[in-house]
Amino acid sequence: MDSLTRTLPASWFCSPALYQLERRAVFLKSWHLLGPVTRFQSRSETVVYEIAQVTLLVENRSPESEGVDRDGIVVYAQEEGREIKSYITPSGLVFATLSLDTPSFEEFFSGLEELVNKVDFTKLPHRRSLSYEGRFNWKTMIDGFQECLHCQYTHPTFSKYYPPTFYSVTNHANFSQHMADPSKPSDGLFLYFFPICTLNVYGGGMSSFRTLPTTEPGVARMEFDYYHSGSDEEFEEYFRFVRQVALEDFELCEMAQRNLERGVYGEGILNPLKENGVAFYQQRVRALVRGEWDKVKREREKGSVKVEAREVGMEEGKAIAVL
Ligand SMILES: [Fe+2]
Repeated sequence: MDSLTRTLPASWFCSPALYQLERRAVFLKSWHLLGPVTRFQSRSETVVYEIAQVTLLVENRSPESEGVDRDGIVVYAQEEGREIKSYITPSGLVFATLSLDTPSFEEFFSGLEELVNKVDFTKLPHRRSLSYEGRFNWKTMIDGFQECLHCQYTHPTFSKYYPPTFYSVTNHANFSQHMADPSKPSDGLFLYFFPICTLNVYGGGMSSFRTLPTTEPGVARMEFDYYHSGSDEEFEEYFRFVRQVALEDFELCEMAQRNLERGVYGEGILNPLKENGVAFYQQRVRALVRGEWDKVKREREKGSVKVEAREVGMEEGKAIAVL
């Protein structure tokens, strides 16, 4: 049993201090998917993202007559003096960081471009976006996204199209590829980008969601963007289908979080085949948070941490001590 990966303990889904470690170790050091270039098709709209309490703004400054491509898209942080990095793939996906404290895009998402360059993301128009809060930790939602053991009983409609028997997840550098049927690798593109973004392309449509952490560990904000190349009717049919699946997941996450907060569930062992996607991302979180905690401890020993930071560190220590 020792060789099997254990889940992160329930305290990691409920601790404000642990979230502060995650914020520094995971969020400020990652690349985040903002969307395909068509998300910025409206020249009059500044699209606002708030990721881990950092606000990013995106504008499309190219003339309307030039259509939608990579030119003219500008990403910057709202906070004066905060420097960030941004990158647009040749296929038209826009990514950004929240600080300069990140590896290069190519290093962070090594091997991703070969995969996404098969799709032309400049061709699927943005149709609708939704944003609302849920009573769950960001990891509770990612746990569910990264496995499909729950699909058969939670998503009866989805399971009709994509029988979970064949479902598989392949993990790469900071991203995972989901395959509903490995014998049909060209049937859509389902991706998870560590830590909180996803992209699902299939059936003429595309959707992307971000599970955004708040400073309250039991609350996350879900943001969805929907794209479709078909008629209004076709889009609405696609939208109804994907919304159904999203609402089913939402309900499941709120119930799972209640169990985590009430101590009903502490920790467990992950299925090495069916939950390899969960193991992959949780291990990344665990390693990064531990590294950050070691840094805090070293700084405390050197006496170089200010009193407030030391107090935060003690709180974080309590959260991490359960490991
Ligand atoms: Fe689900």
